[in-house]
Amino acid sequence: MDNRVYIFDTTLRDGEQVPGCQLNTIEKIEVARQLEKLGVDVIEAGFPISSPGDFNSVVEISKAVDRPIICALTRAVKKDIEVAAEALKFAKRGRIHTGIGTSEYHIYSKLNSNPDAIIERAVEAVKYARRFVDDVEFYAEDAGRSDNEYLARVVEAVIKAGATVINIPDTTGYCLPSEYGEKIAYLINNVSNMDKAILSTHCHNDLGMATANTLAGVTNGARQVEVTINGLGERAGNTALEEVVMAMRCHKNLDFITQIDTKEIIKTSKLVSTLMRMPVQANKAIVGRNAFSHSSGIHQDGVLKNRETYEIIDPADVGVKESSIVLTARSGRAALKHRLQILGYEIEGKELDDIYEQFLVLADSKKDVADEDLEALAGSEHAKQERNIKLERLQVISGLSTIPTATVSINFNGDVFTETASGNGPVDAAYTAIKSLVKRKVHLEEYLVQAITRGSDDLGKVHVQVEHKGKTFYGYAANTDIVTASAEAFLDAISKIG
Ligand code: KIV
Ligand code: ZN
Repeated sequence: MDNRVYIFDTTLRDGEQVPGCQLNTIEKIEVARQLEKLGVDVIEAGFPISSPGDFNSVVEISKAVDRPIICALTRAVKKDIEVAAEALKFAKRGRIHTGIGTSEYHIYSKLNSNPDAIIERAVEAVKYARRFVDDVEFYAEDAGRSDNEYLARVVEAVIKAGATVINIPDTTGYCLPSEYGEKIAYLINNVSNMDKAILSTHCHNDLGMATANTLAGVTNGARQVEVTINGLGERAGNTALEEVVMAMRCHKNLDFITQIDTKEIIKTSKLVSTLMRMPVQANKAIVGRNAFSHSSGIHQDGVLKNRETYEIIDPADVGVKESSIVLTARSGRAALKHRLQILGYEIEGKELDDIYEQFLVLADSKKDVADEDLEALAGSEHAKQERNIKLERLQVISGLSTIPTATVSINFNGDVFTETASGNGPVDAAYTAIKSLVKRKVHLEEYLVQAITRGSDDLGKVHVQVEHKGKTFYGYAANTDIVTASAEAFLDAISKIG
């Protein structure tokens, strides 16, 4: 059997059904173009009968994209099929995806029908779709819970009617990998004309088994996989494209080939996440923020010695620049030094010890320490080393119905002086105290405070611009305490006056 596996992306159809993930046509075109770059074989662009917007998206995606097959979904209803065919008229290669439910739930409860009548409707729909396009995919909705013998009858009939691809959806995400694999094997072995069509997997993730089921389907003979970027889709989602593709790539012994340019995976994931306003969970396989980051000291040490000790995928293969060593309170000096080197700081000995001390204090007060935090620490440590005026102590009183007051102690070449002042806020009070201690006429021209990374536990970064005798001096500091950062930045500028 040929080992080429076709990637059918349904992010723009099953993925887009997720509440809040709806895209406009322009956004869909952007995603479709990126999917083409990623190398998918089929783009399911929408369900044209469902709304004028979906119809229009299928039309515009058909015009915008050249290589992948453009697929449009329908029910086994003539009008649906006619509208889908119309929407596909600009597609270089168009496919109609029609189908009907085949489990007892669908046959009796949803469709109020019987097994033979369902086969008749399925056959009619496929024949009708073939009047418009040569490529017709049939889905047996809820195939996961359909009786295998009956499913085989349906599949044989629709292939005879002209279906080129047969989709076996585990619509409710019910199957175990062994069950789903056996279902595919059963069809391969019991449908007499199975060689005339490709079997396709379409798994949902209700029990967290969509990827495992998809791989079970492929190892048992399916040659198309229906997937979405980031595993988006109804309820718990569909099989994630990135997981299936990378599982095949990692397990070379499986010998499956896809046309996916894996280096485009992260870019595609980010685009879909942003446009669909659906953040990717941090520990999501392949595309999560933590997928290539190491936080424990033992793992960091192993990765620094040999990446493969704790990584099965080279991050560059999916478009991630490099694995990251997440610096936490459990990280050692070696990891800190390594990260500082990557950031361009060659810091050794006493200076490294000082930064490490500050780093541990910071790491204790926040979850992880980002590159920006380290740059701030390294930068302010360099500055401090060169400065002969140092903030020794700062105490502020502030709050509602309180006069903001600051007591500041400054070390001038070893001598410590203290002053207390009030102001319209704690920073103003501290600045007034500093001004009277340094005995220089300085005028604060600009004061800028920013959070460096994310939460309320972040480092605050303060930039100031100070004027003295017509000249401007700049100061900078970072600290989790914003008033301390402000005082240090002010002193940094003053110390440059000379
Ligand atoms: O999950 C499903 O059964 C589907 C079909 C409409 C293909 O999405
Ligand atoms: Zn589905």
